[in-house]
Amino acid sequence: MKLRNRLVAAVTGVTVVALALSFVPLYLLIRALEISDLDNALFRQATALAQHLPGTYYAGHPLDEGHADVPESIDPTPRYTAIYGPDTSLETASESFAGQAPGSLAALGLRRTLPWDGVAVDLELDDTRLRGVVMPTGDQGEALLYAVSKSTVEDDTTTLFELLLAIFVCAAGATALIARWLGERLARDVHSVAHVARLVAEGDLAARVGDPRVMGADETRSLASDLDHMISRLDEVVSSQRRFISHAAHELRSPLASLRGELQLALRRERDADEYRAALREMLSSVDALIALAEDLLRLARAQGGAPATRGRARVADVVREALRMARGHLDDRGVTIAVPPTLAEFPVEVRGAAADLARALRNLIDNAVVHSPPGGEVRIELAVVEGGVELAVVDQGPGIPVEDQPHIFTPFFRGAGGENQEGAGLGLAIARGLTEGSGGRLALDTRHTGGARMVLHLAFAENVPPA
Ligand SMILES: Nc1ncnc2c1ncn2[C@@H]1O[C@H](COP(=O)(O)OP(=O)(O)OP(=O)(O)O)[C@@H](O)[C@H]1O
Ligand SMILES: [Mg+2]
Repeated sequence: MKLRNRLVAAVTGVTVVALALSFVPLYLLIRALEISDLDNALFRQATALAQHLPGTYYAGHPLDEGHADVPESIDPTPRYTAIYGPDTSLETASESFAGQAPGSLAALGLRRTLPWDGVAVDLELDDTRLRGVVMPTGDQGEALLYAVSKSTVEDDTTTLFELLLAIFVCAAGATALIARWLGERLARDVHSVAHVARLVAEGDLAARVGDPRVMGADETRSLASDLDHMISRLDEVVSSQRRFISHAAHELRSPLASLRGELQLALRRERDADEYRAALREMLSSVDALIALAEDLLRLARAQGGAPATRGRARVADVVREALRMARGHLDDRGVTIAVPPTLAEFPVEVRGAAADLARALRNLIDNAVVHSPPGGEVRIELAVVEGGVELAVVDQGPGIPVEDQPHIFTPFFRGAGGENQEGAGLGLAIARGLTEGSGGRLALDTRHTGGARMVLHLAFAENVPPA
């Protein structure tokens, strides 16, 4: 069942039941009050009349003021009076009865003994419905019937009924219309959100719900803006994946192209064994570069894949030692030296993360520092205990990172000015940051440091982390 129809049915149903539950008792109450009002007036009039009848209980009693009042409801209508003698048989009746007055009290459905204060009865004369009272006027079953037409009361209750029915129909109709309008608005909002979700599922990441103010309810408004936000994020992720793939393909193409060139050169003419060996060595180094690049890509994918290694714990001293061991192979012949804190060997602190991951992250920082150091320069590793963890900083004496490059250095494949000619693929810092964050730590450039670059690794204490 459609949301709109369900809303209309529910709201209208509740309104109809609520109106019926209040109108029906109201109608019955007003009707009962009208009848009781009429009965009281009839009793007063009958009592007043009985006072004029000779030989009755009431004869001679003074007429009190209240009995003389003639209520508007019965004033202009004809009165029907009948007097019953002993044995309840009809003695005389007013002309208004036109000879059709009930022949006895039994014909009115009354017992022989009436209550002293009389009884109210309904009777029908031709097409006229009457309401009357029968008052005992003597000990032998004598009684007085005093009646008037019920039409005034019936007219009033019919008018009331018609009025309540009109209100009922209008209220139910208006509620149904309002519920339908609300349902349509809600359904329209849901449809536009669903339409955008469908477009996104089909690959259109430019689809947006648009201005959330056009939405009717706060909830759908926030749903629309959340959906738009989610699509924007998805768009960013997909674009960055595309960028990553195209960069990766581009990076892989260069060593592959040079490998192809070397192969073509080697095959161009006959060579002796030494020349072939030299060509193969060249090719081997191209293949090594390719393997290194593929490994970096894999590492970056793993580091950014959100598989945190926070379950492990590592000694800071081991991390630094392993990073230096890996980095040493990259030291060139420019005489760059690496200085480690003298207290490192005895540094007992353990941090969160896998030692291999943290060492690889630190190795990438050391590699960068060495590459950018001047000949004979010094790369310094600093160690400090700070709140919540340990800070490992790698400081070099190179040119530092230009301000315009600083926001981009952690982006995969970013290489600073002149970097295109460097050997690196621009993955080192992205991998280092991914590995550090995967270990619950942080990696940042110290932008306040001057005279070279200072990269800072913040590693969290391994409290409450079980050994890996
Ligand atoms: N110590 C540093 N001094 C000056 N510039 C640096 C330093 N470290 C990083 N950079 C700049 O940041 C860029 C990105 O560094 P990153 O380590 O990610 O890539 P890369 O070193 O160029 O290549 P890869 O690390 O993949 O071999 C570098 O190209 C360089 O411009
Ligand atoms: Mg690097």
